[in-house]
Amino acid sequence: MSRIVIDCDPGIDDSLALMLALSSPELEIAGITTVSGNVPADMGGRNARKILSRMGRLDIPVYIGEAVPLRYDYTDAMDTHGSDGLGESFLPEASGDFPEKSAVEYLEELLERERISIIALGPMTNLARLFSKRPELIRQVDELVSMGGNFRSHGNCSPVAEYNYWCDPDAAACCYKLFAEAGKKIEMIGLDVTRKIVLTPNIVEYICRMDQETGEFIRKITNFYMDFHWEYEKIIGCVINDPLAVAYYIDRSMCSGFDSYTEVETEGICRGQTVVDSMDFWKKRPNSHILVKTDAGKFMRFFLARVMKKKDGSRWREEDLALPENLWYGEE
Ligand code: RIB
Ligand code: CA
Repeated sequence: MSRIVIDCDPGIDDSLALMLALSSPELEIAGITTVSGNVPADMGGRNARKILSRMGRLDIPVYIGEAVPLRYDYTDAMDTHGSDGLGESFLPEASGDFPEKSAVEYLEELLERERISIIALGPMTNLARLFSKRPELIRQVDELVSMGGNFRSHGNCSPVAEYNYWCDPDAAACCYKLFAEAGKKIEMIGLDVTRKIVLTPNIVEYICRMDQETGEFIRKITNFYMDFHWEYEKIIGCVINDPLAVAYYIDRSMCSGFDSYTEVETEGICRGQTVVDSMDFWKKRPNSHILVKTDAGKFMRFFLARVMKKKDGSRWREEDLALPENLWYGEE
């Protein structure tokens, strides 16, 4: 596996994704880049470093990315993630400063030197800025796994659009277009699969009983998110989209789907909608792999075994988790 960069907008589910990535020995994280999405890019940078500090990984550099979308006014999601972007947990700032270099400059220089994979968990503004300037660097990208979009699932910020691609539809459209021209496919982890990944209060309670420090931390940053889900979707729990993208990057059996040519609408009431040509009307070479099936239980066992630590600091094996029945929705 090549080294990876996580491009994100932390954000509560981004933070859980970072915790999962940092607890996964298969991954070598070269760096983290932030982009304005759930929260402004600079706040996302501070939040990413709060997570790195908790995990003892402040050695991983964090670069601040684009502050606004390519064209549209920036719309944050702090109503969902809280005024601090971490569920109003108001965690202490991590020590140390940010590099001078911007996220796009960092990604450009890194890709000039080595092949990397990118797990994109926010609007694709950084990637669009970089690849529209340097399209030849796309060939240096082993894999781009993007949490965003939706195939048959309804949207989460409009009837037809998912937030990351709605927030900056021009950036998403640009990336799908450039990847098509480069003959490469974006792995699209959209709402069709992420909606099945619901962190419930029972799961949080289970984590607390198995690893109290981790459980209380997750409870602290997700309570606000759970309140939002009850108020707007009458869900007891919260959909944690981003960790599934990390899990899928590590274990491709986590989700299944199909290759397709995809474009992103940038105008009007369907702004941000992913138009997936699943029936091949346009006879265009696929530029995306659309994930549509996942097993919530498989993901949760994967996630719990990695983010929880035993008292001696060692890692859990999934088969040793002794999970109570009905901890989560969607058990196959
Ligand atoms: O639509 C869900 C996505 O938008 C997630 O990545 C969430 O963190 C927000 O960025
Ligand atoms: Ca995100």
